[in-house]
Amino acid sequence: MNVLALESSCDETAASVVSFRNGKILVKSNIVASQVEVHSLYGGVVPEIASRAHSEVISKITYQALGDAEMEMKDIDAIAVTSEPGLIGALLVGVNFAKALAFANHKPLIPINHMRGHVAACYTLEDPPKPPFLALIVSGGHTLLVHVSDYTEYHVIGRTRDDAAGEAFDKVARVIGLTYPGGAEMDRLASAGNKNAIHFPSAAVGECDFSFSGLKTAALNYINSQNQKALAFSHEDLAASFTHTVVNSIVKQTLKAADLCGCKTIVASGGVMANSHLRKALTQLEQTGYSVYLSPKSLCGDNAVMIGAQACYEYEKGNFATIHLNAKADAEC
Ligand code: KG4
Ligand code: ZN
Repeated sequence: MNVLALESSCDETAASVVSFRNGKILVKSNIVASQVEVHSLYGGVVPEIASRAHSEVISKITYQALGDAEMEMKDIDAIAVTSEPGLIGALLVGVNFAKALAFANHKPLIPINHMRGHVAACYTLEDPPKPPFLALIVSGGHTLLVHVSDYTEYHVIGRTRDDAAGEAFDKVARVIGLTYPGGAEMDRLASAGNKNAIHFPSAAVGECDFSFSGLKTAALNYINSQNQKALAFSHEDLAASFTHTVVNSIVKQTLKAADLCGCKTIVASGGVMANSHLRKALTQLEQTGYSVYLSPKSLCGDNAVMIGAQACYEYEKGNFATIHLNAKADAEC
């Protein structure tokens, strides 16, 4: 089976062709048109600009994805599209384009939840995880701990009560003068700093929830107070201490959630999973008896491969949409 998948929930327009053969996901093409440069001028994603930019490139990248896969529409068995959650105007570009494509070519349409997509990036691994497992999803807009009992059965165990982990990274990065999105640069700075230099409050709250807002504010207060006193401070130490606290908080809640759902398998994905310190900390859990699967680094950020991968399982379950499919800004899994 061949799926043509589309993703436009935030600031990446993506198209991919994914094949499903003998239970294995094969990536045939992967096109991502990033809008990061234009949004970095404003220090964050401007929704209206994102929607317009998606409209400008979606047709072109779809045909590029087909071309790279050496396929035509006649070779495609289903069209998948991210329908939730995300920026509503951005989502609508992908949803309407996918509906038109599916309708005109008489193909089934598969709506995909973006967070399920992030998890499905791990199904492209050489030795992919199989449900049941605990999924950790850390992105720019969400931070979730989910019990995945089957490929299409999701039960949220923990979530952020305010900011997402990526949002907190980007905010602190912005205040120390890094360009949007600053998460990757914070990662590099942290490698050169002392993680014990500054004490920050944990983001682990409640049984398995997170609150990154308090941690973010503590980091901003530290920066402001140093600036007010005209005291220089090490950006490397700040990044290292902040990252250390984020990582510890995530590992702590992940272990509690795994315990709660009786899972010894942990699957981690989302943009923030590109963070080298978080990858190292989660990988170390293997030494204490967990099987840990990390999203390939190249598929941590938003892409359409992950949407196509999840679509293969939704297809098997017959989870199709009609021509009346709508986009939804708020949704978990
Ligand atoms: O999953 P994603 O591409 O988009 C959403 O669905 O939100 O995640 C983007 C987020 C941004 O906040 C970005 O700064 C963060 O992932 N990010 C990182 C790293 N690379 C990307 N955060 C920390 N360390 C990184 N290496
Ligand atoms: Zn995402």
